[in-house]
Amino acid sequence: MTQIDSTTLNQWYVIQSSAALTPSQPRKTRLLGRDILAVRQEDGQATAWEVSTKGEQGQALPVRECYDYVWTTLGEPDGDIFSMPEFYEDGRRMVVCGIATVQTSPGRIIENFLDMSHFPFVHTDVLGAEPDTEVNNYKVNLRKDVNELWATECGFYQPKAMASATEGIEVDYQYRVANPFAAILYKTCPDRADAMDLVGILPQPLDETNCDIHYFMLVFDDVNSDQELIQFQQGILMQDRVILENQRPRELPLQRGAEITIRADAASIQYRRWIKEMGVGFGTL
Ligand SMILES: [Fe+2]
Repeated sequence: MTQIDSTTLNQWYVIQSSAALTPSQPRKTRLLGRDILAVRQEDGQATAWEVSTKGEQGQALPVRECYDYVWTTLGEPDGDIFSMPEFYEDGRRMVVCGIATVQTSPGRIIENFLDMSHFPFVHTDVLGAEPDTEVNNYKVNLRKDVNELWATECGFYQPKAMASATEGIEVDYQYRVANPFAAILYKTCPDRADAMDLVGILPQPLDETNCDIHYFMLVFDDVNSDQELIQFQQGILMQDRVILENQRPRELPLQRGAEITIRADAASIQYRRWIKEMGVGFGTL
């Protein structure tokens, strides 16, 4: 097995939603190339352990339940799972959307999530439309105090920004990369001018070029059912999957000048630089 860098190893990763892990439904899965098993005990406790190549129960793993998800780690995280205070706000709905299995690296998934320039071409008439293909000159900041990457002032015209949108609106976007492999999008809530809706993606790297993406929405929405919201988000992710699985190499190239960059790639450039500085080797070149 290849050596896993300590930054990648020492992260918390979602391995299942809390609701889907029941005593009768354990989850046999993989994390960073290793076989693991997650089990909800009869007393309600979520547990997980490594499984040896012979199928024997191995080392018990730390488990947390947070934001309606079950998290574990193969290393020793410095801190807790990133904070998401919006989860506790009155009136917001947490909608766990499920799992999308995508044959690519976690870095490619985060980078695609940060990229607005593909909206009109990949999510045509939903997240973008020609001729409004211009990406504003947004700002990218590394917030050193929390070690998070933020892209702000990302404005974009969207024909159907969210499931609840009935007409096209100019939306404000902010992206937050809370750790190398977890990203949240904050976008204008069609129902409330003073609030942002959240869309999160939490790739569980099965190995360097295969991920199960756990994704969620955290919204103010009195109109759509959970099922409608899930269908909306799932539709977008399935469009992204086609793009992601066709990218070569599947690993994210981190060497300078590896791929041609344009202004709209500012977030991508900073993302690559940031994870390179942290020593992320997993799923990168
Ligand atoms: Fe996309």
